[in-house]
Amino acid sequence: MTPEPVNVADYERIAADQLEDGPLGYYAGGAGDERTLRENVAAYARHALRPRVLVDVSDVSTATTVLGTEISMPVIVAPVALQKMAHPDGECGMARAAADAGTIMTLSTIATATPREVAAAAPGAPRWFQVYVFKDRGVTRAMVDEAIDCGYTALALTVDAPRAGRRERDFRTGFAVPENIDMPAVTAAVGHSEGITPQGVFELIDTSLSWKDLDQLISDSPVPVLLKGVQTGEDARIACEHGVAGIVVSNHGGRQLDTVQATIDLLPECVEAVHGRLEVLVDGGIRRGTDVLVALALGAKAVLVGRPALWGLAARGEAGARHVLEILRSEVELGQVLLGAPDPGSVNRAHVTVKTGPRAADD
Ligand SMILES: Cc1cc2nc3c(=O)[nH]c(=O)nc-3n(C[C@H](O)[C@H](O)[C@H](O)COP(=O)(O)O)c2cc1C
Repeated sequence: MTPEPVNVADYERIAADQLEDGPLGYYAGGAGDERTLRENVAAYARHALRPRVLVDVSDVSTATTVLGTEISMPVIVAPVALQKMAHPDGECGMARAAADAGTIMTLSTIATATPREVAAAAPGAPRWFQVYVFKDRGVTRAMVDEAIDCGYTALALTVDAPRAGRRERDFRTGFAVPENIDMPAVTAAVGHSEGITPQGVFELIDTSLSWKDLDQLISDSPVPVLLKGVQTGEDARIACEHGVAGIVVSNHGGRQLDTVQATIDLLPECVEAVHGRLEVLVDGGIRRGTDVLVALALGAKAVLVGRPALWGLAARGEAGARHVLEILRSEVELGQVLLGAPDPGSVNRAHVTVKTGPRAADD
C-alpha cells in the first residue's frame, strides 16, 4: 500500500505515477535544457535560515494581507492552465481547496472552466484573474469583464510569455489538448481547443504588448493590476512608475526562457528597486514552508505555488489540493515558531543567509 503523502514531494510522486506521459510532461516540464526549472528549486538549498531564540512564540499566526486582502498564510495558488486534464475537479476543485485553506486562487486565462463557474464553486472566497492579452482583444476584454463581474479582486497580467518556451517534453510526447477538454478562452478565439498544442495557444497572444497597453489595462480596471513575470530590478522600477499594485517575480516555473536565474536569486534586486512602492511576490521552486520563509526574509509579501497545488489536484482532486495547501500552511507555521517569527511580517533579512563554500549537497 502506498504510504499517506506527508509533503509536496510525496504528492509529486503520486501525480507522476497517475498521469499519462503527455499531461505529465506538460505539467512537470520546463524550457530548453530545463536549467531554470532545476535552478528554481536548487537555489532554495543555497539559502540557510538564521533562527532567533527566546522569542515568545506562544501565539503564532501565518495570516497576512496581500493587496488589502487578508489570507491565512503567505501562500497563494498560482495560475496554472488546463486543470481538468489533471483531474475532473479542475479549477473549481482548486478554487474550493484554496477557499478552505483561506487563501487566494488565481485563475488562468487558459483555464478549463470559466471565471463565472470558478467563482460560483467557491462563493465569497478571494480570487484573482490572470490575464493573457490575445491578438483578439475582444476575447480578452470579455474574459476580464466576466472576472470583474464575478468578484475577482485583482488582475495578474503575465508578461513573460509572448510565445511559448521551447518545451521539448511536449515535442517528444506530441502533446496536444485532449478530447473533451475545453479552454473557453481558446474556443472563443478559434472555435475549438481540442487538439491544440501549447505553441498553438501562445500564437493567440499579442506579441506587440508594451507598457502602453499596461497603462490602458490599469486605467480600464476597477481592481488592482499585478505584473507577473518580472525578472529585473529595471523592470520592477518601471512597473512602479506605471502604477502597478504589485509584481510577481517569476520565470513561469522555468517554462519560458531557459537559462534565466532562479527567482529567489532575483528577488532581492526587485525588492530593492521598488523601495516599498508596491508589493513584491515571488514564485518558482517553492516546495516547503521553509522556502516560503526564505522568500519572506528576502522581502516577498507572499509566494505563489504552481506545481505543488497541481500535484495535489492530480493525485487526489480537490482533497489533494486542499491537503497540499494545509501541509504548506503547517510547515510555514512550524517554521515561524522555530525561526522566532510570530507573524509573517516579522520575518526579516537577518533571518536568512546565502551559503558560501561547496555547493549544497542537494543542488
Ligand atoms: C502546467 C503549468 C501551467 C501554467 N499555466 C500558466 C498560465 O496559464 N498562466 C500563467 O501566468 N502562468 C502559468 N504557469 C506558471 C505558474 O503560474 C507559476 O509561475 C509557476 O508554476 C511557478 O513555479 P512552480 O510550479 O515551481 O511553483 C503555469 C505553470 C505550470 C507548471
